[in-house]
Amino acid sequence: MSERVRSGISGLDEILDGGFFAGQTYGVTGGPGSGKSIFSMEFLVKGAQIGEKGLYISSEVSVDKLIKQMPFWDLKEYIDKGDIVPFSTRPQPDEIVVESEKFDLGGLIYLVKHYVKNKGIKRVVFDSITAFVQQYENKKPLRRELNNLIGILESLGCTTILIFENQVFEPTDFMEFVVDGVLELGIIETREDVVRYIQVKKMRGTSHDMNKRAIEIQENGIIVTNLKPFLSG
Ligand SMILES: Nc1ncnc2c1ncn2[C@@H]1O[C@H](COP(=O)(O)OP(=O)(O)O)[C@@H](O)[C@H]1O
Ligand SMILES: [Mg+2]
Repeated sequence: MSERVRSGISGLDEILDGGFFAGQTYGVTGGPGSGKSIFSMEFLVKGAQIGEKGLYISSEVSVDKLIKQMPFWDLKEYIDKGDIVPFSTRPQPDEIVVESEKFDLGGLIYLVKHYVKNKGIKRVVFDSITAFVQQYENKKPLRRELNNLIGILESLGCTTILIFENQVFEPTDFMEFVVDGVLELGIIETREDVVRYIQVKKMRGTSHDMNKRAIEIQENGIIVTNLKPFLSG
């Protein structure tokens, strides 16, 4: 396997036995409020701090709102310097959109290639990929397009996070098969407490800790602890 790319998230690279692999694509999954967006932005911030530029593609919120929602780091400074490039695929308020969605996966691939080649991007986040996936009624072409996207990102040398939203009505489990690793974020209610956790569910090419680990969202980002959330109460 290729060289390791440290996520930079406190405590995570230790349980991944050194970090992600360069050029691979990872799924981050979890319910609403589980920390997926904060986690993924921290991956880009920590990359920017070591000279790896990041692209953050948001299907949900505008760039302004994104900055307001992430008070953990001075995102505006990273964006102004070009170390983090935010891109929102959400239509602007005054924009007339003929089709129900402005981008399909093909359009996304085009966009990513453009940014990566022109701006020297090394880390990419899709927040989330779920909106694009929902445009496909048929799973076969979807799987092909996703594999195509992952292959292109690998050939461009980008280490990538695809955020999957855990949905009750439309499970996206099959997406976990096409990526190189899956990290699940969640919230557990113990008898006395409510605890956030992370679990590495899949990581091709390496051994890793399988346990759920308690995490905390603190003022400088996410910390993965050694505690097992079930035993903490
Ligand atoms: N400044 C903060 N300090 C601690 N926790 C925070 C802070 N800001 C947000 N959170 C927590 O993070 C959650 C949102 O995380 P986010 O990454 O946006 O979740 P997701 O993308 O999985 O929906 C909030 O619901 C809140 O519980
Ligand atoms: Mg989010």
